[in-house]
Amino acid sequence: MPTFTEAATVQAWVREARTIAALTGAGMSAESGVPTFRDAQTGLWARFNPEELATEAAFRANPQRVWDWYASRREMMKDVAPNAGHQAIAAFQRRHPGRLTLITQNVDGLHQKAGSTGALALHGNIFEDIWLDPCAGARGRAGICDVSLAEPGRPPHCADCGNPLRPGVVWFGEMLPAGALAAAEQAADHCDLMLVIGTSGAVYPAAGLAHTARQGGARVVVINPEPSELDGVAHALLRGKAAELLPALLND
Ligand code: OAD
Repeated sequence: MPTFTEAATVQAWVREARTIAALTGAGMSAESGVPTFRDAQTGLWARFNPEELATEAAFRANPQRVWDWYASRREMMKDVAPNAGHQAIAAFQRRHPGRLTLITQNVDGLHQKAGSTGALALHGNIFEDIWLDPCAGARGRAGICDVSLAEPGRPPHCADCGNPLRPGVVWFGEMLPAGALAAAEQAADHCDLMLVIGTSGAVYPAAGLAHTARQGGARVVVINPEPSELDGVAHALLRGKAAELLPALLND
């Protein structure tokens, strides 16, 4: 059974760990002002139906609606700044090269803005555009149309074949990027300590990485102000906000 733990205990675990994996979710960015998905009042999925916005079928059925929703989220996120939690992880990585593998479900790019390198972005990047289908419009080079050649629109599309652009995020029912997932599984399996930060643990395969870490012999710590679905996997629970706890935990 996990126990509610003093931050000082986890600080000591951080110092002892040769390798650390950090798995982050939307709560990591909450104090930067980015809404989470499943918080009861403020989460995006409390106000919007993911079936209508975060699946390939939804995009094919109503591309303009889905494009506009992601465009409004991009607009909201583009000037948002990393918080003290993102900064603490990035600073730890700079002080201890190669010791902390960062695995994130977030698509907001805030870890990267804070200076974290090598973040494994399991759910993609909201600022990237990709073709919905492989596009081989006549204006493309080497048979594949360059995204930058898309005609403006909602969504932008290939002038030759009409193929639309879509946001480069992983939707429900889609595969995660294979390389990032394999690297994340490897890091989870081999780490001495896994920090599970600001995620409800409701979405797999990302949440499964905490189980992998536990089975691989790592200590697992959940950092979250609320109960999460991964509490039962953890050795220790720190009930608090990421931006408040991480600077002290990672001050080694
Ligand atoms: P959720 O919204 O499911 O969970 C956010 C978690 O953050 C909750 O457990 C909150 O209690 C916690 N939280 C809130 N404020 C916090 C704070 N200041 N510090 C620490 N924790 C805090 O978000 P995710 O677990 O990231 O998928 O959701 C997983 C995936 O589901 C997302 O990546 C997204 C979504 O559908 C895609 O975009 C593909």
